[in-house]
Parts: sequence; C-alpha cells; structure tokens
Amino acid sequence: MSFPSLDKFFTQGDFVGDFQKPCHRNTPEVADPIWLDVQGEIPTWLQGVLYRIGPGKFILGEEGGRSLTITHAFDGLAYIHRFEFDGNSQKIRYNSRHTAKAFEKQLLENPFGGYTSYGTVYAVGSAWQRFMDFLARVNKKPHPDPSSGPVNVTITPNFPIPGSWDTHGNPVLVAKTDSNRLQKVHHDTLEPEKLFDYSAYDERLKGRLSASHHQHDDRTNEVFNISMEVGMRPCLTVFKIDDKTGTATVLAEITHYLDDDNKTPFKPAYLHSFWLTQHYVIVPISPIYFKNNGLDLAVTGNLMSGMEYHADTPTLFYIVSREGGHVATVPVDPHFAFHTIHGHDYLDANGNIVLELNTQAFDGCEAVFQTADLTHLPRASEIDEVKALENIPRTKVNGFTVPPLNTFSQNSFGDLRQYKIVLDKHQPHKNPKADFITLIKNIEFARVHPAYQFKTYQYIYFNYMAPGIQNQKGSMFGLKKVDLKSGQETIWKPDTTDAYVCSEPVFIPRPGDALEEDDGVVLSLVNVYDNRGHHHDHCYMLILNAKDFTEYGRVPLGQFTAVTFHGSFVDHEFISTTYN
Ligand SMILES: [Fe+2]
Repeated sequence: MSFPSLDKFFTQGDFVGDFQKPCHRNTPEVADPIWLDVQGEIPTWLQGVLYRIGPGKFILGEEGGRSLTITHAFDGLAYIHRFEFDGNSQKIRYNSRHTAKAFEKQLLENPFGGYTSYGTVYAVGSAWQRFMDFLARVNKKPHPDPSSGPVNVTITPNFPIPGSWDTHGNPVLVAKTDSNRLQKVHHDTLEPEKLFDYSAYDERLKGRLSASHHQHDDRTNEVFNISMEVGMRPCLTVFKIDDKTGTATVLAEITHYLDDDNKTPFKPAYLHSFWLTQHYVIVPISPIYFKNNGLDLAVTGNLMSGMEYHADTPTLFYIVSREGGHVATVPVDPHFAFHTIHGHDYLDANGNIVLELNTQAFDGCEAVFQTADLTHLPRASEIDEVKALENIPRTKVNGFTVPPLNTFSQNSFGDLRQYKIVLDKHQPHKNPKADFITLIKNIEFARVHPAYQFKTYQYIYFNYMAPGIQNQKGSMFGLKKVDLKSGQETIWKPDTTDAYVCSEPVFIPRPGDALEEDDGVVLSLVNVYDNRGHHHDHCYMLILNAKDFTEYGRVPLGQFTAVTFHGSFVDHEFISTTYN
C-alpha cells in the first residue's frame, strides 16, 4: 500500500538520512497549504484547527558537505503542523513548517556556539573549543531572527502576550519549551514572528528554565507558569499572566524549603509540568537536580550531563497560594512525572485543605534518561536487537544508570497516580499528610475533556506501550480510553503488524451544552514504521469516535513520519480551545 497524497510535493532530497543511518528521520515541510481527502466520514461538526508540534529535523546539512546529526529525540529541530478540519466538505487543509531554520544554520556554522540541548552533544572538540562554547553560553545574547532558538514541545492558541505588543487583531499562537523561551508564530502560515522569554512580561521572570506545560484557569482567564533560576541564587518563581492585559503577577519567589527553620535551600531540578487547582499552584520538584546548582549544565550545555539523581531523596511538592505566598512544602515518594493531568482542592469535614492531584508517575527518576529514541519504535525485525542492548554492562553516573535503558525495554509507561495532600487549616506548612493510590498502569500523554477542569472526570484518553515480538510484530504506542467509574477499557486496534506510534490523543467535544462527557472525537497523528523498511514508513491523521473508539476516518499524509509531542485544537474563530 502506498500513500501518494503528499509525495508529489517532495523531492528525494527531503528524505535525507541514509548516509548516516539515523534513528530519527527528517520530516518534509509543506509550507504551502494543500487539501487532503478523508478516507471515511468525519462528523460535520468537526470544524477547527489542530496544531501539533515536535521534533522534525535530525539530520542537518548535506552529504559531502557540513552536516550534524541530532541523536536525542527531544532535540530534533522544531516542526509545527496545522490541520484545519472542515467536516462539511470532508477535507483537511494541511501545512507544516520547520520553525528553527536560523538555529539550524548557526549549528552548522559553529556547533560550539553556546547552545543547550537535552541529550545531544552537538560536537566533540578541543578543550579550547569547549571553553569558547561555555563562554558563549553564559554570555548568550538574544538573536534577532525569530527562528534562532529551538522551541518544540507545546503549542498554544490564544496565549497572552505582553500588553505592550500589538497583534493587529490577529489570532495569537505561541510555542513553548522547558527553557525560558517562547516563540510566537503566525497562526496560518506558521512562520516564526518573535522569539522571547517571560521577562518580556516582568523582568523578574528571567530564570533560565520554565515549564513547557503552563496551566490556564478557564474561569478567571489566567495563565500560570514558573521561572526557575539556577546558579548562585537558585529561585523558583511562580507567576500568573492575565489573558486580556498580558500583565504578570508574581505569586511566590521560593528560595527555601518551608520547613521548621526555613533554612533548607531550594535546589533547582528538571521540571516539565505542574498542577493548578482552584486555590493553589503545586510544583513537583523531583530529586533530579541540576548539579552544582546548574554549573554543570552551563559548562556542558547538556541537560542530561548536567543533572544528578538522588534516589533516596523525596520529591517535593511546593504549594503556592493563588492569592500569593508559599504555603507548604510536602515531601512524597521519589518519583518523576513528565505530565500531570488534573488537580482540584476542597475542604474536608474538619475544614482542612485537601489537594487531589492526578499525575502520570514513573517510580524513581530514571525515565528522564530513557527518552533518546522515544520517537522511533522497533520494527518486527528489530525487537531482538533492542532487547540485546538491555544486557550490555552498565554503571551509575551522577546517580543515573548509564548507558540508559531503551524506552521500550521497560515495556510500560508510568502509572496514573492520585496524590492526596492534606494541609492543616491553621498551619498548612506543619506536618502535611500525603499519600497516593494507583488508578491505571502504563499511561502517558493523557487528555481529558477540557471542560472538566477542577471537576471530577470519568473518562481519560491516553497512550499505552506494548512491546513487539521478533519477526512477528513491531512495538507500539497505542490508544486507550478508560472509564474511571467502571474501570472499563476501550482500545483502538489497527489491523497491522507494523510498529506504530499514536500521538497524544486529543479529545474534541461535540459543540453544545449538556452532552455526555465522551461525546466527541479523538484525534491522533499515527506514524507507522513499516516492517518492509523505512522507505515504506508513513503517517496519517486518525479520527476516532470517542465513545467506542470506532474509526470515523483517516487522512493519509504521505510516506514519511512526523513525530510530534503535543497539540492544541481551536475553533476557526480562535475562541474555544483545548490545549496541552
Ligand atoms: Fe510534555
């Protein structure tokens, strides 16, 4: 079977990669929009735009010329995809863009230019080159080109921008990452328009790191996030931004653990997401600290070699009031979660404060290191090869197992845990109580109905991992729905033995009031790693009925893979959004 729908738009040069045998392959850019047909029939009410963002370019340069290979999935250069659904015509308007072109050019011209990566070492050079790289990193100046920085994790319509900026009435679309770096891109063409950081809202928000996943209160119309400073004076700054005015308010500047004597300093650590409840912001700091308060990160320019894991140290939940102020620091078991899901608070019968926090937790923190090949699943012929890698000698470096185990050797993602934190109504920082229950095993990239913020939800849609069998079937990231009331599971089962990755399932509710919670569709971009070899790899947009996971339709994109992390859906008027 072939998928010719987009192939005529590409030249052979777009399929670079053979000359370096990469794990990850480049995704071709479709800058000029094209209309694609639906195989099947999608609901006529499905009207709006799904943006997806992720790593789309790993092999830079050309064969015979200057080239550079990006080896870690998280470091692939940013691509944004725009899928405009028109249920009336049963067509999808599609375009995509490579949004880090100036960054790519800089990398190729000088890989020692002071860049920071998650796990890729851009170049191995002399002591002098590495020293110059370090100096360039600590003296980094803003570059005027809006595509000069890598921003590839989340994409958010209607993100507030600083009040002094004029949008000329155009819809706003902003990409984010775990560094304190945001990129405004054009909502239609996806062309980068501005690269900035949170200090554009308030100069106090200049910390080096932030969270890719902000939180938004849909009732009060406020965005929440953190700015984390490393170095001599580590600080966790929690803030909010008003949607309408773009004005930032600092809620807390945390430099110390809130224990009895307030003397334990805050230790900066890798963070990807956090919780928001009706009254609190809760920031989970796992024991994966930036070594020497970030000095190692500055020297190496590499997150993985700049972290240290303290396996016996608790994860700390820093709890901040939305009215302002650090309320409590709550130690829990050492765990790490890339993605929180949902939070809400209430008072118990004694008037004490209860926080109910759902997250997708891995035991310990090794998962942070097991992500290099997250974007390429082993085909049926590659299963034994991947398993053999589990048996090579390993050691511990900075508390982490090195070399890290492959993503797929774990056979499972983390668990859906529900943490319950109880704070005393009079002295919330004194002796907080914390425990958790496990609701679901093997879960990642979960989404729920966007209107159930701070409310009890029944249905959850997510990815699960299943290992392949040598020469029989490839590995997969599949799609599952769970009814949390009944425990009933619904699984999408495509008829294939190829390896495949379903992207994060984005639930889109049918417009209207008083509908059932699962009345809607689930959208997922599926990459297929064909058993016949990578020249047969392909991808398609999948549209499922959220009730029973039957297929409304598929929209083939072409014979390439388009790896994405996260996505957001917005109606044509940029009013109603569902985002991550
Ligand atoms: Fe994420």
